[in-house]
Amino acid sequence: MNLIVSSQKISEQKADCFGFLLQEKEDALSEIKACEKKLGVTSAPFIKKQDFSGKRMQTCVIPVEHDGKVVHIIFIGLGEKKGLSIETYRRAVAQLYRQASAHKCETVAISIPKASLFDFSSEDFGQQTATILDMTSYAFNDFLSKENQIPSSITSVIACVSTADKTRFEKGVKEGRIIGKAVNTARHWIDTPPCDLTPPELAKYAKAIAKKYDLKLTHFTEQEIVKKGMGGLAAVGRGSEHDSQLVVLEYKSTKKNAGTIALVGKGITFDSGGLSIKPATSMETMKEDMSGAAAVIVTMEALAQLKPDVNVIGVTPLAENLPSGKATKPGDIVRFYNGKTAEIKNTDAEGRLILADALAYAVKHYKPDAIIDIATLTGACAYALGPFYTGLMTQNEDLCDVIQEAGKHSGDHVWRLPLTDDYNIAIKSDVADISNIGNQKYMAGATTAALFLKHFVDDIPWAHLDIAGAAFNVPDKPYYRSGATGVGVRLLIDLAMHWK
Ligand code: BES
Ligand code: MN
Ligand code: ZN
Repeated sequence: MNLIVSSQKISEQKADCFGFLLQEKEDALSEIKACEKKLGVTSAPFIKKQDFSGKRMQTCVIPVEHDGKVVHIIFIGLGEKKGLSIETYRRAVAQLYRQASAHKCETVAISIPKASLFDFSSEDFGQQTATILDMTSYAFNDFLSKENQIPSSITSVIACVSTADKTRFEKGVKEGRIIGKAVNTARHWIDTPPCDLTPPELAKYAKAIAKKYDLKLTHFTEQEIVKKGMGGLAAVGRGSEHDSQLVVLEYKSTKKNAGTIALVGKGITFDSGGLSIKPATSMETMKEDMSGAAAVIVTMEALAQLKPDVNVIGVTPLAENLPSGKATKPGDIVRFYNGKTAEIKNTDAEGRLILADALAYAVKHYKPDAIIDIATLTGACAYALGPFYTGLMTQNEDLCDVIQEAGKHSGDHVWRLPLTDDYNIAIKSDVADISNIGNQKYMAGATTAALFLKHFVDDIPWAHLDIAGAAFNVPDKPYYRSGATGVGVRLLIDLAMHWK
């Protein structure tokens, strides 16, 4: 998809679709009238017939024959002025794209509303527009025969903005496309079936990025993981035929005395539960269990191009969690990279085991100013928050603030869950330093999982993001489809770009 920013009037564009995002009961814009005049049509009767009043996400499609070709005018409602939010805009743009594609339009001109209506700068508004358009265009067609593939007719989008906004909007579009592509790359790897996307395969992609963008790469094979004493990661991958991996990517800012953040992503390429095996229906989508690692890897890829003023370390432990004669058993005790031990009572609580070693590794070798981990960690989080929020757990108020802000600004919304030491008792073990599952009496499964991780971050400011509910099959948002969402990518990039 081409994305062109133009300061020429929408009525003067060469396009076969003219899209407008309208507030409820907004007076017809002069630009709509100019389009009507050019196409020789009046939209009023269509608007009346389709009961369009500009309510949020309401849609009115007007087909017109012009110069022997079929052209469409499309109106999408933004709702009432007082309720406008950037998320409304994202969904309206996505809805416009979907409608235009459903009507086989090829070149879509969009009359971009004023950024200030949404309390956004022109640059950030251009970024949002580009990212959402790219995300909406995503489909996973790799395994579909031609006749079953999800088509998109759209080859070009023309964003029509004012002359005053053009340069800044265009700058944002450039960034936004890098972000949108990163989100879609994550979705691609998450959607790829687990027979094809094994830990070595994901490591291969990380290595390719390191080479392409000149990021520093550190990579350990399963043998090296065992040798280094990363007992958690080693234990989880033991039942699988595929080698576990630890991949570290480093982006170095050119700014002097820049801070350093470490991003740690859970990379279970398939989670069967291991010997504590999952019921069949819970296992169905467990290829999604590397969503955290995918988010971290593509964030590094994007940051290498966006070049923020902060050093970023991306750490991804990769493993496949399967039962076999060699698999880890309930009752086993493992020793992690920082020397602590855990009793494995349930092999399905494997995410925290691989993250423990990765966090300890980041702490020991980088001493970052902050650590953020991202993981499809607990069903409990998915049940608590549903699909529209990522769970945020931290004891650091500053980190909490910046992450919540990045959530709103980027569109990857977060909701804070408790992380209080009161629950520490829930992960006590009689035979090891900690237990890998919480005592049922305390429930709060998302919190007790996070408290497990807390044993591996020392005193470094740290936040944990649980994306179990938001990573896959999220309904109702028109810029997603069934399958992977790439949640976390926009958030992590936004955080790094605004780091102070
Ligand atoms: N990968 C799962 C969590 C998950 C559930 C992700 C649903 C996405 C959707 C994780 O490894 C897991 O199995 N967690 C267990 C932990 C329990 C055994 C303490 C869970 O949440 O049931
Ligand atoms: Mn599991
Ligand atoms: Zn898992």
